[in-house]
Amino acid sequence: MTQQITVTEHLLLHQKEEPMATGRFTRLLNELILSAKIISREVNKAGLVDVLGFTGDRNVQGEEVKKLDEYSNRVLIHRMARCGVLCAMASEENADIIEIPHGLPTGGYVFIFDPLDGSSNIDVNVNIGTIFSIYRRKSPKETPILSTDVLQKGSEQIAAGYFLYGTSTMLVYSTGNGVNGFTLDPGVGEFLLSHPNIRIPERGRIYSVNEGYYHYWDPATRRIVEYFKNPGNESSKPYSSRYIGSLVSDFHRNLIYGGIFMYPADRRDPKKPRGKLRLMCEAAPLAMLVEQAGGMAVDGERRILDIEPEQLHQRVPLFIGSKQDVQKVLDIYAGKA
Ligand code: AHG
Ligand code: MN
Ligand code: MN
Repeated sequence: MTQQITVTEHLLLHQKEEPMATGRFTRLLNELILSAKIISREVNKAGLVDVLGFTGDRNVQGEEVKKLDEYSNRVLIHRMARCGVLCAMASEENADIIEIPHGLPTGGYVFIFDPLDGSSNIDVNVNIGTIFSIYRRKSPKETPILSTDVLQKGSEQIAAGYFLYGTSTMLVYSTGNGVNGFTLDPGVGEFLLSHPNIRIPERGRIYSVNEGYYHYWDPATRRIVEYFKNPGNESSKPYSSRYIGSLVSDFHRNLIYGGIFMYPADRRDPKKPRGKLRLMCEAAPLAMLVEQAGGMAVDGERRILDIEPEQLHQRVPLFIGSKQDVQKVLDIYAGKA
């Protein structure tokens, strides 16, 4: 029988290496896992109950909000506010920093999240997920939360991960000591270790990008995408194109198989010259994971984890995945290839 190691056991088993295996982090993770189980339950019955379609509202991103976006956001805010170890939260769906309601116990962690990633796929039963990122506050405890407690560069993250609501529900996360994947056993309601110590292949065989934006890219970006399609590339055969419009799913597939996900800057929307993806709740947490798994994540010239955020919802071009493939992107943008 395969060892049935739960997330809590895995944390305790690695107590010595896991600086984060304190009781406080375990409480945070347990509330997060409960939130994901609640969201997964709703995702799995979407279509049977009234959680499909739009709410009719637009979020701070200017995007139409899906009912499941809003539901997931509410579940996470409610549950995580009660885990007793947070001093602040920030959500892709909320314009401002979310304070912990007065009277609830607080702590020294900051929780940033994309409650539901890949929303455009909700109504057509394609995988979606939740992405999260955890920092320690910088300012002294018992003092008011400052924006600098939340606007921290990705290298300051103490943990990051995602839930994937697909053929199975998975949790993949890192506390800075490698990446591990857990799969929910619905029979017992526990996430069990299924992908220990995930490593991404040095070079992949998949490239993921929305080629519908080709005419909005600059020449260097076009050269990059052409490289991965070219039989004359260093792999001596074209990469396979895989893109399902759900970052967390495209990222997870490339993490396991190897490959590169790209969301370049484009000229479609003058209001979004830096592309669509958000630094704090999408790029930074996945960048921590991919580096912990031996890969790379850049904006085309800088390491994602080195970018000092200026705004909570700032967007960033994202090239993330196998080290040699991301390096090729850097070389082409730098005019070296
Ligand atoms: P979200 O649903 O949280 O807004 O994220 C959607 C993102 C990401 O999941 C995906 O990679 C990207 O949007 C797809 O964008 P395009 O439809 O422009 O390709
Ligand atoms: Mn998203
Ligand atoms: Mn989202």
